[in-house]
Amino acid sequence: MMDRKAVAVLISGRGSNLRALVEAADQLDFPARIALVLSNNPTAEGLDYAQAKGITTAVIPSKGRTREDFDAEVNETLRTHGIELVCLAGFMRILTEGFVQTWTGRMINIHPSLLPAFKGVKVHEQVVASGVRFTGCSVHFVTPGMDEGPIIIQAVVPVPIDATPETVAAAVLEQEHRIYPTALRWLAEGRLSIEGQVVRVKDATAASGVMISPSV
Ligand code: GRF
Repeated sequence: MMDRKAVAVLISGRGSNLRALVEAADQLDFPARIALVLSNNPTAEGLDYAQAKGITTAVIPSKGRTREDFDAEVNETLRTHGIELVCLAGFMRILTEGFVQTWTGRMINIHPSLLPAFKGVKVHEQVVASGVRFTGCSVHFVTPGMDEGPIIIQAVVPVPIDATPETVAAAVLEQEHRIYPTALRWLAEGRLSIEGQVVRVKDATAASGVMISPSV
């Protein structure tokens, strides 16, 4: 049995990316196991899923606490559970610089846009209003600047003329569920190296071809 890296997934809500990571990690050849699901929101749906799967869960309410205080407890909990890698998956809480430094190179996030475009929240509203023809999703290393860390992998999704934030969200989410497990696999396999803002993926080949949208 290979040594599978112990991963914590941090969530605040629905947990569909959590589910994608758990399903990937259920495969015998996956180099990581989901050892802990941690939520700052006691009513996050993703917690029910994790419990049903028999995964250890932790709830650390963030309401009414300082960031330092909250992050210290999260860090302690990760340490207690022997966590080696952290995946943020719809975790709606900004982490302190100290916490982020502690986990440098070992913590990744998924964002539903083609970064560095459309950082922050209400991403798909911004996308539709902006008139861009393509959007997508990105998995990146977490650095102190929000949605600014080195990008590991991206997927591109066309934005149809009649798109709504909801239809774009659904199309992007499908790709999120593909690229997040891929990024975690590479991280756990030790195939990623960071040079400034650039992530090199050992033995990866670039995708080829071009996409043009719209087409007539
Ligand atoms: C996803 O769109 C993710 O990219 C963003 O928050 C959403 C979380 O969805 N960071 P879920 O909880 O994984 O279903």
